[in-house]
Amino acid sequence: MNAYQINKGGAAGPCCFVVFGANGDLTKRLLVPALYNLAATGLLPENFCIVGVVRRPMEGDTFRQMLVDGLKQFATRPVDQAVADKLFGCVTSVVAQVDDPDSFKDLAKHLEKVEAGRNTGGNRLFYLATPPNGFAPITRLLREVGLSQEEEGGPWRRVIVEKPFGTDLASAQALNRQLLSVLTEDQIYRMDHYLGKETVQNIMILRFANGLFEPIWNRDHIDHVQISVAETVTVERRGAFYDQTGALRDMVPNHLCQLLSLIAMEPPARYAAHSVRSEKAEALAAITQYTPEQAILNSVRSQYGPGIVKDQAVTAYRASQDVNPKSVTPTYTAIKFAIDNWRWAGVPFYLRTGKALAKRKTEIAIQFKDAPIAMFRDTSLSGMGPNTLVLDIQPDEGITLHFNAKVPGPKMDLAGVGMEFKYKDYFEAAASTGYETLIYDCMIGDAMLFQRADGVEAGWSAVQPFLDAWGIAGERGLSTYAAGSEGPAASDIMLARDGRSWRPIG
Ligand code: BG6
Repeated sequence: MNAYQINKGGAAGPCCFVVFGANGDLTKRLLVPALYNLAATGLLPENFCIVGVVRRPMEGDTFRQMLVDGLKQFATRPVDQAVADKLFGCVTSVVAQVDDPDSFKDLAKHLEKVEAGRNTGGNRLFYLATPPNGFAPITRLLREVGLSQEEEGGPWRRVIVEKPFGTDLASAQALNRQLLSVLTEDQIYRMDHYLGKETVQNIMILRFANGLFEPIWNRDHIDHVQISVAETVTVERRGAFYDQTGALRDMVPNHLCQLLSLIAMEPPARYAAHSVRSEKAEALAAITQYTPEQAILNSVRSQYGPGIVKDQAVTAYRASQDVNPKSVTPTYTAIKFAIDNWRWAGVPFYLRTGKALAKRKTEIAIQFKDAPIAMFRDTSLSGMGPNTLVLDIQPDEGITLHFNAKVPGPKMDLAGVGMEFKYKDYFEAAASTGYETLIYDCMIGDAMLFQRADGVEAGWSAVQPFLDAWGIAGERGLSTYAAGSEGPAASDIMLARDGRSWRPIG
């Protein structure tokens, strides 16, 4: 197949979907509803089977029943029983453990048997929904027992690797090396679920399928960019994971850097995986590497204290389950990035993300340079605001262009107004998990919405100076914010220093 000719639309070709970590939360909550939605829209192949790899033996039909229950609980659309029965009719499970290489031989035997029964042609999608320490040993053992090799003209074998992909630059590089020693880059699909979101996919369409924006998408016209991912959720029961991770590692090298790279990238030569992923990685690679002093100056880290979120009392982060009471892990971070290339030199990209904030909102705001105001020197300009293009990624998906208008009446007053596009006014999209596109794309061999090794590493490179500087600073410089607020004052101060301010979250 020519790498540029991928036909989307019809059912994917025959394959076996093998999920590791099969009885985990991700399988139930996201994979099962996503597979169901693909089945319901005719995008799963006829010759298909699901094999769950579990660590301990399960009685008879327990695994299938777990998937059935998962769908009942997490389906995003009304369930058609016939579709569900057909989907679950092809489910089996097998026991395998990474510390028992022989169990992978059993997995191989199991696969051969079910694949022959379902005529899947040997095509395999391995979905690694396990904790990250499983990624390297699983792929190594798959290779050792001959399950993941591809041969010229033979069936395809692909591996979806969930996040987190490493915990810093060095560990991400090490993981890439391990994976690439047993698989080729074309076989590895590194997951970032933000790329499955329709509004995120639309960023490229907005920029490159419209003639209007690209000519002004640069440092001549843009003053700065704000990328905000505000969450109302707290660490909930994820304290053990989160306290080791924190807001920066959890969100910035992956989700926020993906958003940044889609805004900052150069137009790719083709709407195809290779071109798009190359341009995204280039944009990230142009981010200025700060010294430790610059990293401290251009960042904020903070933890939520007690407060009220959506009318519910929230206890302080440090008082949360499985969190060290003296933890210095940030639950909020704001960063000012500089992108040192011809398009963006001098245009700051401000990023912020945090938990237990006033409102759930992901948005990208492109703020344009002010108009020259000499013409209005004898006129009241109090109502005049900046021109801003706001991409509402979630939950209220849309795009708004803010500009100035005259307030009707004999007086000359100005006010900010908005031209608003809401997805729901134009399109009727069935609710989905966001994983449908990603699973389907992997089945048809389209890697555009997955991360390539260089892209993942570029994301980690961008945040590494902050990890290093914060590691040295310890508690020094860590602030707190009230749960349910807009975030710490330090974040506002960072922008105020540049004569700018954050758009409100709430
Ligand atoms: C995950 C993070 O990757 O993304 C979570 O681990 C975070 O901490 C989540 O809550 C946010 O995703 P979404 O789709 O709800 O914005």
